[in-house]
Amino acid sequence: MDRMLLESFPFRILEGAAIAAVAVGAHEVIFYIRHEYPLAVERVRAAISMCEQRGWLGERLLDHDYPLRVSVKEGAGAFVCGEETALIASLEGHRGMPRLRPPFPAQSGLLGKPTLINNVETLAAVSWIVRHGPEAYAAFGTKTSTGTKVFALAGKVCRGGLIEVPMGTTIRQIVEEIGGGVGHGRTFKAVQIGGPSGGCVPAKLADTPVDYESLREVGAIMGSGGLVVLDDSDCMVDIARYFLQFTQHQSCGKCTFCRIGTRRMLDILERICAGKGQPKDIEELEHLSKWVSQGSLCGLGKTAPNPVFTTLRYFRDEYDAHLKGRCPAGRCRDLIQYSVNAGCTGCTLCAQSCPVNAIPMTPYQRHEINLELCTRCDSCRQVCPSGAVDVN
Ligand SMILES: Cc1cc2nc3c(=O)[nH]c(=O)nc-3n(C[C@H](O)[C@H](O)[C@H](O)COP(=O)(O)O)c2cc1C
Ligand code: SF4
Ligand code: SF4
Repeated sequence: MDRMLLESFPFRILEGAAIAAVAVGAHEVIFYIRHEYPLAVERVRAAISMCEQRGWLGERLLDHDYPLRVSVKEGAGAFVCGEETALIASLEGHRGMPRLRPPFPAQSGLLGKPTLINNVETLAAVSWIVRHGPEAYAAFGTKTSTGTKVFALAGKVCRGGLIEVPMGTTIRQIVEEIGGGVGHGRTFKAVQIGGPSGGCVPAKLADTPVDYESLREVGAIMGSGGLVVLDDSDCMVDIARYFLQFTQHQSCGKCTFCRIGTRRMLDILERICAGKGQPKDIEELEHLSKWVSQGSLCGLGKTAPNPVFTTLRYFRDEYDAHLKGRCPAGRCRDLIQYSVNAGCTGCTLCAQSCPVNAIPMTPYQRHEINLELCTRCDSCRQVCPSGAVDVN
């Protein structure tokens, strides 16, 4: 979402940053962009240079005797470096680790100077608000969450992509009207909203409006504006494991709760997905989620348990099924078996696609899968034109 804004509307963000700089009396603006977004870096640098050449930035800001130097600093892409105090540490050349607040960056930030940190989406809205007035902006959205929000709509939805909606638009409107719903023959199951540390909201709560307060109530967050649509082929335990694996990997390691707590939580989730979970694991997972969330220093650790909290809250039956050795969505490799049913026409496509030769080629006859060799890669099911490959 931020990358798209930087790549597509660099001047709008630059203008917003300049207005913000004047508002707080700053003479230096730094864009902190991850190195993995080279096009964004290139376009922002080009926009700065064009403005400098025309005398709009640099020693003078437009016609004013107000120096404003703008530069780009490339980060190495650590998730935690989005946290404002870690971002400042990274800018100063230190390891990107958050620190306790206060002092807040506005009091003591980069090199000990008061620093304003904003997201590019915020800055992109500034010039519009100044031009049209705050009332016009607040006319979009809800009473407490005003304006619009950009989302990266992804996952099992017919029309994925970047969307901008007024705050308060419901999850259902986003998934069904804008995204065109989930694919043929599939059922909408949930949305994972707010990026890696967001929560999973079940389809039964699809009429929840997307605003800060309502999302908090259902256990999700606005976060980075990621919105992943999940269908009945997604396993919610596996989803929790997947996102926790990401946040665990990105933990900077400063706090024990985040560093070790998320590791222990991940161990439990991996165990459950492998069919080796025990009933006391759920209790331990709930316990650890609470402590990691409460005992962590920064937003990364505080929100990392969100996918676990919400899947336990709304999809507890799936955890229970895993403890009994069954993955209802047929996703967790250790808990599933592939077989060929009577619908097989003997077309041999499955045998041709199997990377480990677990299906002997028997043209015009019902095929069989050698379970000793099968690695559960799912290729045969995907290529079978008759829907004759079952996953149980
Ligand atoms: C782990 C973590 C990662 C974050 N990543 C980003 C990020 O990539 N981009 C961003 O703008 N803000 C990120 N933030 C939020 C920033 O710390 C900060 O709150 C935000 O940029 C403030 O801008 P706003 O008030 O304009 O939203 C992150 C926060 C945390 C805790
Ligand atoms: S909560 Fe995690 S990421 Fe944040 S400071 Fe602590 S260890 Fe680092
Ligand atoms: S799931 Fe993969 S490995 Fe197993 S039989 Fe099918 S194609 Fe072969």
